[in-house]
Amino acid sequence: MFKVNDNYLKLPGSYLFSTVARKQREYQAAHPDKKVIRLSIGDVTQPLAPAILDAMHAAVDEMGHAETFRGYAPDLGYEFLRNAIAENDYKARGCDISADEIFVSDGAKCDSSNIQEIFSLDNKIAVCDPVYPVYVDSNVMAGRTGVYDSTTETWSDVIYMPCTAENGFAPELPKQTPDIIYLCFPNNPTGATITKSRLQEWVDYANKVGAVIIYDAAYEAYISEPDVPHTIYECEGARTCAIELRSFSKNAGFTGVRLGFTVIPKELKSGDVSLHALWARRHGTKYNGAPYIIQRAGEAVYSEAGKEQLKKQVAYYMNNAHYISAELKKAGYSVSGGVNAPYIWLKAPNGMTSWEFFDYVLANANVVGTPGSGFGPSGETYFRLTAFGSYESTVEAVDRIKNMKI
Ligand SMILES: Cc1ncc(COP(=O)(O)O)c(C=O)c1O
Repeated sequence: MFKVNDNYLKLPGSYLFSTVARKQREYQAAHPDKKVIRLSIGDVTQPLAPAILDAMHAAVDEMGHAETFRGYAPDLGYEFLRNAIAENDYKARGCDISADEIFVSDGAKCDSSNIQEIFSLDNKIAVCDPVYPVYVDSNVMAGRTGVYDSTTETWSDVIYMPCTAENGFAPELPKQTPDIIYLCFPNNPTGATITKSRLQEWVDYANKVGAVIIYDAAYEAYISEPDVPHTIYECEGARTCAIELRSFSKNAGFTGVRLGFTVIPKELKSGDVSLHALWARRHGTKYNGAPYIIQRAGEAVYSEAGKEQLKKQVAYYMNNAHYISAELKKAGYSVSGGVNAPYIWLKAPNGMTSWEFFDYVLANANVVGTPGSGFGPSGETYFRLTAFGSYESTVEAVDRIKNMKI
């Protein structure tokens, strides 16, 4: 008789965004005349930039001729893409990352959930609270998180690092020593970020205690302030303690196209064992490569035309972020984020819980956001709005929230 992986049975409730979508559906069904605006899920809305489309069209044509047809991609990804990444994302910032330390993938969600496979089950993970749920859930599925306590909504074997208004939504070094530390800056969901000197403290700490940092920089393109690092490899010593995850979803609108990459420096070792070699083995066995057409599209992100067009796309979303943040502040809300990230982190007024405020905003402004408590206990009483909508719908949503009676 077969048995299931009962770690899956430990996962609490349904996935946050399914609950949000269900509530929206139910509300819309009960009020078909209302126009609901969705500023909840972090999905982009602007079309692909022309430079990317041109590259995709050209690659599609290549696939139609025997001389230029491509089959399976190389294990790590095509060299043209890995070279463009190494040059533009790392060497141009003075970071010593070479093309053969880059593993091209179909996105940061898969990489951030799969990377834990190369670590022992008795490793202790540390996560920010609130947190992108994938880091914890993938470790639950693997059986690394212990027992769930539904009253505190925490796992016994996970170290939670609260990110609160008091610490500027950036975690402090944990009291208990972790083996694997997940950091994400600019942050989803809080929109907060970390200065280079604070990140350097994390790198020094990880090197001192022998921990590995999994650094998710999916929102790097949204950084606007000069003292915020674009990659963890700007910090001295990161090559011996950090893995970096990147995505083309938010900087180039690839949420439906799918492309990302993971960087593992060759010096990163557990004893004599190279994590680069383990991930290469895992990648070679379980993954057959992002499509050639999509990797060519990714290369176009780094072309002169691509960079110019994508700068405008990011500016478009950040204009939304500034609008949401400024207008809600004017209306008396306590708001953070929205400066180096496309997320606005709003304190629910009048002592409402996250879900109470979610329901209130849905019913009174017909706007869907995401309840902060869905990202972890320290997210309780917060509410996340995304800047990924169109400008027009963003303005309308914000005006409706401003006009709600509180
Ligand atoms: C922090 C973070 N990492 C990764 C992802 C997923 O990125 P991708 O679309 O590349 O899978 C998201 C998506 O919302 C995210 O917020």
